[in-house]
Amino acid sequence: MEIARSLQNVPSSYIREILSAASDPSVISLAGGLPDPNTFPIELMRPTFEAMCDKPEVFQYGTTAGYAPLVNFLMDYYQLLQNHSAVICTGSQQGLDLVARAYINPGDTVVMEAPSYLGAMQVFGLVSASIVTVSQVDSGPNLEQLEACFKAHSPKMFYAVPDFHNPTGVCWSLETRKKVAELCIEYDVAFIEDAPYRELRFTGEVLPLVSTFCPDHSIVFRSFSKIASPGLRIGVVTGKKSYIDPIIKIKQGADLHSSIPMQAALLGLLKHPDFDEHLTNVKAIYKARYQTLHDALNDQLPASCTLNAVDGGMFIWVGIPQCDTFELARELLSKGVAVVPSPVFYPDAEGQPSALRLNFTNSSPEELVRAVEILSKELNRYC
Ligand SMILES: Cc1ncc(COP(=O)(O)O)c(C=O)c1O
Repeated sequence: MEIARSLQNVPSSYIREILSAASDPSVISLAGGLPDPNTFPIELMRPTFEAMCDKPEVFQYGTTAGYAPLVNFLMDYYQLLQNHSAVICTGSQQGLDLVARAYINPGDTVVMEAPSYLGAMQVFGLVSASIVTVSQVDSGPNLEQLEACFKAHSPKMFYAVPDFHNPTGVCWSLETRKKVAELCIEYDVAFIEDAPYRELRFTGEVLPLVSTFCPDHSIVFRSFSKIASPGLRIGVVTGKKSYIDPIIKIKQGADLHSSIPMQAALLGLLKHPDFDEHLTNVKAIYKARYQTLHDALNDQLPASCTLNAVDGGMFIWVGIPQCDTFELARELLSKGVAVVPSPVFYPDAEGQPSALRLNFTNSSPEELVRAVEILSKELNRYC
């Protein structure tokens, strides 16, 4: 049977290849976006899991929008506006897929920063969106390019990760947030705000979501994968009711609803008196690892490489002299270090600067130091 045309254009994922090689225990993997499993708050969830054994109702079919006690808790927690609602998804990745399917017709334009999150490029590619990119600077998207792009293409959506971007770690400035919101309202573009790393800020001041400045022109995706555990597969999508209802309709056909026991476990965790302390601990661990990786790179990378400081998230983006980054990544893998080469983060990598994405959350400080020794040696050969 011939596969659908939309799938024929999706290349087999290099990242899957590298991640499977990186699961070899002798490899230090800075490739994935994995949280440290030792931080998973399993003990904080244990009482809820145990209590669930006496609650057969949570094992019954549920409503598509989500487990009502969790939905209500989150609506209150995020102080959603009166005309807004929420839908719980099987990870925020499912939310992205549902939004793409609910709103994109083949050929509709979706704007993204370049580089961008691979999983978003995949879902928008699968619905045959026309992806147009704008470049990214230290404060967020290039605003002149963004406005020109809105004018020229009348896009349906602008998808972005304003807090600790994947892959670059960039966090948008307050001015950029306000300006992007203004442009989205002016040009009637829906802002798709993907915020899975927002709670992982370990330095600096919390900035408002972009959607705070354009609440009725945006859809927000939050994830519990990085602050609780990715295996729970819980994310939440919020926005004005008229934006969320079509998403619920699509989700009904996709999976009826996300797992109720997992939603109940998450609710128990979020209500646990020690949850805030858990989050503080996770951020302290990640901050220390980031510092270790950053300092080691700063000391050892060739001068021709660039390195940006980040205030949170999970990644450092290392700019390197123009080269075949796939070849470099393969070479590094053969020496025991997995990294992700920059071209996978561009819909069209032709002419884009070379870089590597390094994750700092899933390796010990000793492994990070060792990985930088190997990486620097190899880069010194290459550059
Ligand atoms: C930017 C971005 N959005 C969405 C996701 C998907 O997260 P989830 O585990 O909630 O599906 C990821 C995962 O790494 C991500 O980096």
